[in-house]
Amino acid sequence: EKSGYDHYMLKEIHEQPSSLRQCLRGRIDELEGTVNLEELSDIDHDGPVQFVACGTSYHAAMFGAERLRAGCVSAQAFLASEYASDRVPVDGDTLVVGVTQSGETADTLRALREAARAGATTLAVTNTVASSAARECDHALYIRAGPEIGVAATKTFASQQLALAMLAFELGDDPTRAELEALRDVPGQVQTVLETTDAKAVAEAYVDADAYFSVGRGYHYPVALEGALKMKEITYRHAEGFAAGELKHGPLALVTENTPVFAIVTGDGETARKTIGNVKQIASRDAPIVVVTDGKSRVTRYADHVLEIPATDDLGGSVLANVQLQLVAYWIAHGLERSIDKPRHLAKSVTVE
Ligand code: M6R
Repeated sequence: EKSGYDHYMLKEIHEQPSSLRQCLRGRIDELEGTVNLEELSDIDHDGPVQFVACGTSYHAAMFGAERLRAGCVSAQAFLASEYASDRVPVDGDTLVVGVTQSGETADTLRALREAARAGATTLAVTNTVASSAARECDHALYIRAGPEIGVAATKTFASQQLALAMLAFELGDDPTRAELEALRDVPGQVQTVLETTDAKAVAEAYVDADAYFSVGRGYHYPVALEGALKMKEITYRHAEGFAAGELKHGPLALVTENTPVFAIVTGDGETARKTIGNVKQIASRDAPIVVVTDGKSRVTRYADHVLEIPATDDLGGSVLANVQLQLVAYWIAHGLERSIDKPRHLAKSVTVE
């Protein structure tokens, strides 16, 4: 039941405030200043962490690894299809985390099984209770996003982001009050984005572009990749995400006046300053610039369009920025009359390697 929306994808994008609330429910103790993941109360791990995942879940895994490293935990994300235990240092001290919405992705299950054979402790971060990943791993952390019908993963990505942010507090440094408040505020801020977004107008402006690029740094880098993946799978148009600093090392040659570049910039610190430098390089090649920003920096002066998000920390900002990119991809695909909920050649759950 699409509840009046044209597509499940749009419905699921709009479900994010409530699915994110479900993800956080009972897991943040503001009085104590702690995060409590009941399912993981018996996890006692202080070794390295390896993430294995595919597609959108891999982007969430990259985000999770970045967050763990910020909490002083050694962490790396691997594409599950490329993970081989004889080529990465995995042993009894390693926690291997499979990030998988369905819990049934063959590549991810294989990587988890291989890690288990090498002696690693395994954890499934999944949306699906009693899925193969949840049953086979030593531990399971549920993202509680509710069923996702659209092939394009939307609300489950956001819930993976918040679940992995909470996992970082469980395994690494304790949260600060500001970090806890930022997490708590994300669902309401996503609601604000949904109510105020200009994504449809941006989509209309660029429906005939030659290609779409997205750039970001830190937490925004996996979101740039995810924004491009969403665009590819539902519009069938060429889209690429880049680490903002990498453009000048090659991809800048692709940029023209008919390739809009989406730049994610939050805050006004060092990360923002550097990305703004990259945005200037793009602007001087005449590419249209769409900035996704909280408006704290001066990046808007280089923008042809602004997709505004509420001000929060970089981590929360990356969840909000992703919602804007989901909507742009959706409205471009809508304009092109694509089969949005069932894109050609794709399946919701990929059970072959
Ligand atoms: O169920 P999983 O999270 O393991 O699925 C992995 C990918 O197949 C999946 O994230 C895919 O990339 C998305 N449906 C694309 O939107």
